[in-house]
Formats: sequence, C-alpha cells, structure tokens
Amino acid sequence: MSKIVTIVGARPQFIKASALSRALQEEEIPEVLVHTGQHFDDNMADIFFRQMGIPEPAYNLGINSLSHGAMTGRMIEEIEKVLQIERPTAVVVYGDTNSTLAGALAASKLHIPVAHVEAGLRSFNMKMPEEINRILTDRISDYLFCPTETAITNLVREGFENFPSKVIFSGDVMYDVALYYGSLASGKSQALEQFGLNQHPFILTTLHRQENTDDPQRLAEIVEALNILSAEYRIVLPLHPRTRKIIASQKLSLRFEPVDPVGYFDMVELLRNCSFVITDSGGLQKEAYFFGKYCLVTRDETEWTELVDLEYNFLVGADSQKLLAKSREIKYLFRPFDAKPYGNGDAANKIVRILKDSYNL
Ligand code: UD1
Ligand code: UDP
Repeated sequence: MSKIVTIVGARPQFIKASALSRALQEEEIPEVLVHTGQHFDDNMADIFFRQMGIPEPAYNLGINSLSHGAMTGRMIEEIEKVLQIERPTAVVVYGDTNSTLAGALAASKLHIPVAHVEAGLRSFNMKMPEEINRILTDRISDYLFCPTETAITNLVREGFENFPSKVIFSGDVMYDVALYYGSLASGKSQALEQFGLNQHPFILTTLHRQENTDDPQRLAEIVEALNILSAEYRIVLPLHPRTRKIIASQKLSLRFEPVDPVGYFDMVELLRNCSFVITDSGGLQKEAYFFGKYCLVTRDETEWTELVDLEYNFLVGADSQKLLAKSREIKYLFRPFDAKPYGNGDAANKIVRILKDSYNL
C-alpha cells in the first residue's frame, strides 16, 4: 500500500506537519508519523498533537538530550528500522533539526524518496548546526519544496540544476498554519488573563538558539536588554528548556518572570496583542509578520532575509545597545503588512498534490 512516512521531532516540526497532515487526510493518503522524541516535554511536544489535529505518532523513538553526533546517529539507526518495517512510498522531513537530517539520511540510504519541506534556506553560517543539517538534507532529497524565491536562488547557486532532484517553489507551510489557526484561535486562549497582560503593553520574546545560549557574552547582552525593556513593557518570555537550564547555571538574573513554553493558540493570542517581537527563532520571525508585528531578530544573519529586506524585521545581533535603540525606533513605524513573500497560504496542498501525482499515491 502506498503511504507517506513523516519524520518529526522538534516543536516547529509538529507545527509544520499539522498543515501537511491535514492536506494528506483531505486526499486520503495514508500517513505514518514517526516522532524521534527530540522534544519531549508536554508543552514542547504533546500539546501540539492535541491542539493541532496531528495524527498520533505510530512510533516514538524517545531519542533526546544527547550530543549532536550521538543524537543524530541513534536517530538514523532507529528510523532505518522503522522504514524497513513500513516501506513507505516517500518520506517527508521538515526544516533543519537533527531529526530532519537523520530522517533524510536513513531514507536515502534505503533508496526511499525524500521530500524536504522548507528546502533551500541558508544562513551561510556553518557554525550553526541547522545550516549543516539543511545543506546535507537538501543534497540527498528528491523533492525540495522551497518556501521562498531566495531559497530557489540559493539552490541554483549551489548547482542543483545539475542534479536530478526537483526544486519547487511551494510557499511556506508556516503561513498556511498561521492563516488556519489564526482564524480558529479566537476564544481558545486565556494567555492575556493568565499572564496578567490586559491593557499592559508587552513584548513577546523567545530565546533558544545555540549561538546565543551557549555564548555567555551574547546571552548576557540579550538578557540585559530585556531587563532594561522590562521597565517600560511587560516581557513575555516563554522559556525554552535549553535556555532555562543555562540561565540557571550561569546565575543570570531576570527582572521579570519568564513563563513556561505555551501552545500554538496562546502564541497566536500573544502575537496578536503584543507591541512587538524579539526573537532568535526561525518560525517566530515570520509569524511576527503574519500577525502584523515588527520583529527584532537577535541573530547576526538570518535565512529569512525577505522581511529584513522589506524592513519589517531587524537584525540586532546580541548587542544590547542596538536592541534598545531599535526598540525605540520601531515605535514610530506605521506601515501596512501587505507584502507576500511566503506564498498564498496553500503550500501544504501544493506539496501534497505534487507528491500524489509523482508517486501515484
Ligand atoms: C532544536 C533544533 C533547533 C530548533 C529547536 C526548536 C537541532 C540541532 N536544533 O534545538 O534547530 O530551533 O529545536 O525549538 O536539532 N529539552 C527539554 N525538553 C524538551 C526539549 C528539549 O528539556 O522537550 C532540553 C534537552 O534535554 C536539551 C536542550 O533542551 O538539553 C536542547 O534540546 P535539543 O533538542 O538538543 O535542541 P534545541 O535547542 O531544542
Ligand atoms: N512556539 C510555541 N510556543 C512557545 C514558543 C514558540 O508554540 O512557547 C511556536 C512558535 O509560534 C513557532 C514555533 O514554535 O510556530 C517556532 O519554533 P521554535 O522557535 O522552537 O524553533 P525554530 O523555528 O527556531 O526552529
């Protein structure tokens, strides 16, 4: 029987997979979901399955909290076993995590076609684990579904025209998700009451990238800027477990109380009502735009360059002075959020139609 095996493991992948799972169900294409276990806390994983109608994982490999090599290696080994049992028509992987690379490697060595959703993105910073994962996953994938025109250009520059893989502009599945859940979320979140935010201007912020959390200087600069901003705004920081551990071990003091990670409906509510966003997250950079908010990106470069070029997002690095200066400047920016760099919100349907036609699903 023809079927798709989907490999997920980290929070942003559950969110992306929700769009494709819905489109696969509409086409009655069987999907077997494999959760590597990379993220495992209820509020980092299970909550998204409950809220977003993602099928129950048929396999949970329980692999997490290891070094990059150990994690990726163990995942390859266990995913290979699953693929030998399931023998899918194709494997779908998302984004750039260790789960992505492990899924793509295990499948390609078994000669099972790989579809990479969110292909072609580049930060050109080879120190990022995600950049290594992206480049390798792209090279061994058969279908490269690109969220942006920039992603297509990146692949052309790398010579993908000479490879048999198919490079396709699909648009960004995260835009599909924002539109779909944006219209459903109303009334489903009590985040504003829960965090005491009614009538208070607040900044929504997240912080988890290895380049920030594992560099004490960078982390201290970002925390300092947030502490200063907390005199003017409420700071809503749903704290990633990686960052919580490091802030505790470094004894950094926060002048505000971070909150635990929240579900997607709460994120939508917070995005809709915040003054602006400060983040190093790939996904949240774009969601800020989808919900009409400016975003200060605490990184030195980004793979989502469109919003920087359009001046909705601003790269402030981990420089507290730059961050504070930009926070003041964006108060006086009033512009329509009407560009469409991420497609039309139908990326998942497009991807599923192409897979269906290509593999007779
Ligand atoms: C991973 C991805 C990153 C992505 C992020 C999304 C890689 C290389 N990195 O980073 O690209 O942006 O997910 O959130 O794949 N932890 C918990 N509970 C959880 C999840 C993680 O305690 O539910 C802890 C782990 O034990 C570990 C730390 O957080 O100590 C980091 O987790 P890991 O999955 O290795 O990397 P992320 O920083 O989450
Ligand atoms: N997100 C969430 N709850 C949180 C923080 C983030 O649901 O407490 C969502 C966010 O809205 C976005 C996704 O998680 O859809 C981004 O994932 P993350 O920042 O973990 O990873 P990245 O996108 O950087 O790889």
